Amino acid sequence: MTKAIYPGSFDPVTLGHLDIIRRASNVVDHLIVGVLNNQSKRPMFTVKERVEMLKKVTEDIPNIEVLSFSGLLVDFAHQTNAQVIVRGLRAITDFEYELLMSQTNRKIAADVDTVFFTTKLDYAYLSSSTVKEVAAFGGDISQFVTPYIEQRMKEKLNR
Ligand code: PNS
Repeated sequence: MTKAIYPGSFDPVTLGHLDIIRRASNVVDHLIVGVLNNQSKRPMFTVKERVEMLKKVTEDIPNIEVLSFSGLLVDFAHQTNAQVIVRGLRAITDFEYELLMSQTNRKIAADVDTVFFTTKLDYAYLSSSTVKEVAAFGGDISQFVTPYIEQRMKEKLNR
């Protein structure tokens, strides 16, 4: 059984993330969406909220589990018996960071491999940070996130 982890901050989950989640869930037996609990960042949504939001937007996908993790990704992979890490590549600008991360992960855990999905062209420009910025200034984010996530962002921003 192939078990993979799709890790990230997901603050919040975008349509780009969802596209990767759907495509990855089609090629592995079980996909764990791993939400990083990073104390050093100041996220818009708490890790509990991000897990809850991800569960809601992936509720129709049968082979998915949403969990939070802290510490090293490869330790989380070992704990969950996942052999594969899934990451999305939007553009060449992502490549350097992703290559460094995957090589580091392989160096510290040779039994965990990283597989990259190229982001759908429609979402190649999309990031959680830009979605937050557009939302903070009252812009329309309906092309970037699901209606449920849009609503959660509006509530967070008291709109
Ligand atoms: O959505 P993001 O913020 O691009 O995701 C980054 C993430 C969570 C994949 C990365 O920061 C991570 O794996 N953090 C856990 C700590 C770790 O294992 N670091 C070593 C890899 S170089």
